[in-house]
Amino acid sequence: MNDPFGIPETVLILGATSEIATDMAVTLANNGSRHFVLAARSIERLDDLARRLTDAGARSVDRVAFDATDLDSNQGTVRQIFADHASIDLAIVAFGLLDTGVSAGEISAVDVAMVNYVGAVSVMEPMAEAMVGQGHGVIAVLSSVAAERPRGSNRLYASAKAGLDSYSRGLGDALADDGVRVLVVRPGFVHTRMTEGLEPAPLSVHPPAVSDALMKGLTGRRTVVWAPPPVRLLMSVLRHLPTGIYRRITAGR
Ligand SMILES: NC(=O)c1ccc[n+]([C@@H]2O[C@H](COP(=O)([O-])OP(=O)(O)OC[C@H]3O[C@@H](n4cnc5c(N)ncnc54)[C@H](OP(=O)(O)O)[C@@H]3O)[C@@H](O)[C@H]2O)c1
Repeated sequence: MNDPFGIPETVLILGATSEIATDMAVTLANNGSRHFVLAARSIERLDDLARRLTDAGARSVDRVAFDATDLDSNQGTVRQIFADHASIDLAIVAFGLLDTGVSAGEISAVDVAMVNYVGAVSVMEPMAEAMVGQGHGVIAVLSSVAAERPRGSNRLYASAKAGLDSYSRGLGDALADDGVRVLVVRPGFVHTRMTEGLEPAPLSVHPPAVSDALMKGLTGRRTVVWAPPPVRLLMSVLRHLPTGIYRRITAGR
């Protein structure tokens, strides 16, 4: 359950090797979260995070092998995690795949759609069902400002995140009377290994800024939070620019 300040006691993170998710986990532990379930493709790479969480006061850190593209297993994996714990108070859907930057050329178009959209939906449906069953919970999902308007270069990632963002807001509406909340987190450009080698966009931030947005979202009643908050205004302007101007501004980016 959550403490009186809205801090979740038990946290599940899917894509726990993510740099943003790592910072969120440590921030949550520093603020009083006590039990963590870390799901990732490589659970061996979670040693350091597990140690940091324990040092920050976590009483248990469980690890689960998870690959978002393993669609046949995802529902069972999520159901088993909920069955193994008294409750999951916060689930963070952090995994994602960007096909520009250092990884450009190594990642297929289908993988981008599969991981960012299909994979996310495949875990969020059983997650929602389980949270309705327990009568409470928050699903925080890492969307992106890219969901607001695609550029030619990021069309795969942006469209998959737009699908995820739209699905998440709809899921939040569907669960509004069931005690379950969906919190959409929309970061701008964040300096992590995902954006390595890319020219930073205006208002770029580091992972703690995304953790701040999450913490504010957990304590308030908002359904969407932005990191940093001013990117909301920037994207509102960009979203409404005429196509010709938008193409000129974003050409080569
Ligand atoms: N960095 C940014 O500028 C930015 C901006 C907006 C939104 N976001 C979103 O924030 C989230 C975290 O990104 P990040 O910046 O922290 O990047 P990151 O460190 O590269 O994290 C990406 C995570 O996704 C995981 N992942 C990729 N494919 C997967 C799969 N098939 N199954 C399971 N996990 C998979 C990675 O696992 P491995 O460690 O095994 O590769 C890693 O944990 C992502 O959803 C991203 O789209 C990032």
